Amino acid sequence: MKKTIIKTAQLSLLTALVISNVSWNAIPNDETNPPLITIKGFTFHDFNRNGKLDIWEDTRISANERIDAIIKEMTNAEKAELLIGTGMPGIEVLTGPIGDSKQGLVPGAAGGTAAFERFGIPATIVADGPAGLRIAPTRENDSKTYYATAFPVGTALASTWNKALLEEVGKAMGNEVKEYGVDVLLAPALNIQRNPLNGRNFEYYSEDPLISGKTAAAIVNGIQSQGVGTSIKHFAVNNEETNRLTINAHVSERAIRELYLKGFEIAVKESQPWTVMSSYNKLNGAYTSDRKDLLTEVLRNEWGFKGIVMTDWFGGFPGFETIKGGSNSDVVKQMIAGNDLLMPGIPVQKKALLEALNSGKLSQEVANTNAKRILEYIFRTPTFVKYKYSDKPNLIKNADVTRKAASEGMVLLKNTNNALPFADKQKEVSVFGVTSYAWITGGTGSGSVNNKHTVSLLEGLNAAGYKLDKELVDLYKPYADKEVAAEKERRKEKGVMALPERLPELKLTDDFIAKKAGSSEIAFVTLGRNSGEFNDRVVDNDFNLATEELEMLDKISKAFHEKGKKVVVILNIGGVIETASWKDKVDAVLLSWQPGQEGGHSVADVVSGKINPSGKLTMTFPVKYTDTPSAKNFPGFPVQNPKEVTYEEGIYVGYRYFNTFNIKPSYEFGFGNSYTTFDYTDVKLSSPTFTDKLTVSVTVKNTGKVSGKEVVEVYLSAPSKSIDKPKEELKAFGKTKELKPGESETLKLTLAPKDLASFLENKSAWVAEAGTYKVLIGASSLDIKKSAEFSVATEITVEKVNKSFEKDASFTELKP
Ligand code: BGC
Repeated sequence: MKKTIIKTAQLSLLTALVISNVSWNAIPNDETNPPLITIKGFTFHDFNRNGKLDIWEDTRISANERIDAIIKEMTNAEKAELLIGTGMPGIEVLTGPIGDSKQGLVPGAAGGTAAFERFGIPATIVADGPAGLRIAPTRENDSKTYYATAFPVGTALASTWNKALLEEVGKAMGNEVKEYGVDVLLAPALNIQRNPLNGRNFEYYSEDPLISGKTAAAIVNGIQSQGVGTSIKHFAVNNEETNRLTINAHVSERAIRELYLKGFEIAVKESQPWTVMSSYNKLNGAYTSDRKDLLTEVLRNEWGFKGIVMTDWFGGFPGFETIKGGSNSDVVKQMIAGNDLLMPGIPVQKKALLEALNSGKLSQEVANTNAKRILEYIFRTPTFVKYKYSDKPNLIKNADVTRKAASEGMVLLKNTNNALPFADKQKEVSVFGVTSYAWITGGTGSGSVNNKHTVSLLEGLNAAGYKLDKELVDLYKPYADKEVAAEKERRKEKGVMALPERLPELKLTDDFIAKKAGSSEIAFVTLGRNSGEFNDRVVDNDFNLATEELEMLDKISKAFHEKGKKVVVILNIGGVIETASWKDKVDAVLLSWQPGQEGGHSVADVVSGKINPSGKLTMTFPVKYTDTPSAKNFPGFPVQNPKEVTYEEGIYVGYRYFNTFNIKPSYEFGFGNSYTTFDYTDVKLSSPTFTDKLTVSVTVKNTGKVSGKEVVEVYLSAPSKSIDKPKEELKAFGKTKELKPGESETLKLTLAPKDLASFLENKSAWVAEAGTYKVLIGASSLDIKKSAEFSVATEITVEKVNKSFEKDASFTELKP
């Protein structure tokens, strides 16, 4: 009320000034800049050059009122233009000619929104992606460079389980977004890693929604603290790349809500991202970008999302190839669903929007609601407030951030007889594996970054002062360079949609390896994998090691072990691979993921012991691919060209399956070794009964000889009288600070009512059953250190919702 009075007063003041014939002092202008007009010390831009002050030009008035005034004034054509993006220069490679695509001020950005000069609305810019800002590093007729930092891939970041560090990474990313003149980073990506073969798993965080949501929220908070936006994606159930624009995922409402939406829910509630990107796929028969239940009822009404929803690039089109033939998305449905902005935006969509507005098929009410949200977004962008970006982000500081984050995301899978750390800089190290010399920074596609240089393992070890076997380096280095060049050529030939291929390994004779085992103290062997948009990975020679890789490991292990020397495998991969068949042959396995541009330094920091590894797995490493619960439903049916995929495993994804069905994994969810050991003591619950919240506290003591951090995982085993439930589910986690030997820290972790609840489809409600709940405090999902119990006296209906996501096909879900 008070606000309204003040605003009315401001308005009337202005009206009074106008009426009382205040002299308007128009300052002459050039053609591009609107005239400046000053009245009684208040200067405004006369955007529409009509010589008077319109409401939207009056910056003393609230954004809300100015936005309403703009919408009132906008023509249908202008609204249609506002509701779609300005295209994506270069996309014609995939789609054929599609009309105008406007290159924004930042070349290489993925797209943007339109400018409306008469309202003083500038074109805003959005750019990928999850591992850092993706823009063109060089520009025509410009000697300056625009390199960005390649941060660790999403999976590596999530493996840190360190929210403060993730926020710091977000800040570093945000700094580059802002200083390169971009308004929104199209990240984070937090789809559930339902199956290890998803080609984009590297961009995502986990098979578990809590990790996904908390990781995303921390990164969003970091990025947005810099005054730029994010776009959490891909909303939702986009868990594979095969036929990603058309695949129809059949999923139960319970699995949708408990698994596939949960991470987004956490991210929205804990970080209010400026934007959400709807996904490509269909969900239970309808494109997600057409679904009002998803984009309005759940996202906005249930969770309180305040920003805009944009489509993924060509979301709602029945395939890139159909665009040439003039296909279109159902723009009216998308608008009604609450998908405010259609990206990248092409002329057929604009035409359809305009026709629909003119004919009334698209109501003014819907268009105005969506337009208003887009204007609200634009008003908060740095571009709108004319932020003077420097084109000089803090690349040096950010290189430190990525180096630190990458080493903290590394997971020490195996370390027999303390093979690591290996700190000896006098004795020789044999470095094998083509990937040691042709390091993989991150995955391919929109999730990749144009960074200036990537530090390979070779460079990292050299910089750390290791003495490397020179003969091996001289052999491998030119070989790796040649193979990298050949792969570049292959990809050029096969087109941007081609799956990146593994580089073939260099063949070495037994004698040669034996000679190295004689002269070196230890062997480091890197195995590499890459993947990206458009394709899922395959089992043979990708998930499973290739024969030549197994032979290489065999030979090296045999030769080095014969001489009493150790073998360390370094995994430079973006997603899960098979480890069970070969891990016993080697002494240590360090999962370094695709750790970004400083990767070689980060690995050197860990293998040398400068950094004690503290990352833990955010997904299960199965013994064999077919152990994966979704294996028989991935990527879908018909097998040759999938159109449908049925999530028959329901909520039993990842450890929820492996632990409930007692399937032994190679490495379980939550697992990760350290160079030290920890003790868990003094577990306390704030109450033996649950009312509205409960705190779990636990003291962690470093009982080993070196400093280190420990991730503490809190699982809940809930009563399951009314419905089946996983044996346990992760409900909270924390990470200690760096504890010195002998030092302790008490972590306090809170459980809220919704953490106890499962989604009951028959009641359309989140319900916490009455009964006894077991709190399991573990160093991994299978290594439970302590437990405690609390009870819920009577059933709690935590939240009642509208029935949504009706199935379009019947199927039986897996039950224990
Ligand atoms: C990807 C999105 C990305 C967009 C813009 C799409 O192909 O799925 O993740 O943000 O392109 O580059």
